[in-house]
Amino acid sequence: MIRHFLTLLDIDPENLNRLVQRAIELKAMQKKGEPHELLHGKVMGMIFDKSSTRTRVSFETAMAHFGGHAIFLSPRDTQLGRGEPIEDSARVLSRMVDIVMIRTYAHENIERFAAYSTVPVINALTDMFHPCQLLADIQTFVEHRGEIKGRTIAWIGDGNNMCHSYINAARQFDFRLRIATPEGYEPDADILQAAGDRIYFCHDPREAAQNADLIATDVWASMGQEEEQAQREKSFAGFQVNESLMAEARKDALFTHCLPAHRGEEVAAGVIDGPQSVVWDAAENRLHSQKALLEYLLLDQ
Ligand code: CP
Ligand code: NVA
Repeated sequence: MIRHFLTLLDIDPENLNRLVQRAIELKAMQKKGEPHELLHGKVMGMIFDKSSTRTRVSFETAMAHFGGHAIFLSPRDTQLGRGEPIEDSARVLSRMVDIVMIRTYAHENIERFAAYSTVPVINALTDMFHPCQLLADIQTFVEHRGEIKGRTIAWIGDGNNMCHSYINAARQFDFRLRIATPEGYEPDADILQAAGDRIYFCHDPREAAQNADLIATDVWASMGQEEEQAQREKSFAGFQVNESLMAEARKDALFTHCLPAHRGEEVAAGVIDGPQSVVWDAAENRLHSQKALLEYLLLDQ
């Protein structure tokens, strides 16, 4: 059986927790300068239909540290961009490379690719999910505050790909998630329902922030929604994570954001650049947690 990582539900809770611990270990190894060429000679194909800074650099760096290689593929320069079927591209690429990561629009595209791929496929963001970011966010919380099980996380803002992955994370890591979105921007009803009573949903950011150990947010308009920016700025007024909203959470609450961020929109500069923010640690942890993921998918049989 090939292991894919299309959503957080593809790895069972025990292995997800092991993966977070392994990420912390791999981070320490790198800081000490211990070589860890665990994927010597392995090649990763990286398909990007959308822009990226962190995802591209973290995966390429991970493969370099592991003694492997990564190939960046954009629709501008590949036949995928000229309409070659996803199924054909999957069959061809997976005969050459050892693992593929894909950032694309429709989640269905990555499922179609995975169905025809003979090597593991990683979801590096779709319109529906961003599971790799959650591995880094959980690692970051664990490093700062210890076990996440039983804690309370608040999601403030859009019911988007990040929100869906937080909902799946609440199931897999067993934490409570309090979500507040504006009306009309709710997360997918099936994803929400499947998480059961771990989720509290409302339309009031202050209510959602109550007792939170971590407040997370994201941009109001995601990639592909640029033309909705003006409308969304109106709809999301009152959903900014600022000092006053942080004050509703626990005193020692952390703040995170997958980045890139828009200061003055979804987050106040004083919060993202303030003492409760762990955004830079979370960004760095993309590297370490994805190393643990690559190792799990390719070596941990
Ligand atoms: N957080 C995240 O995925 O960043 P990039 O879009 O820069 O990859
Ligand atoms: N929700 C954002 C996340 C970017 C990392 C987007 O999809 O654009």
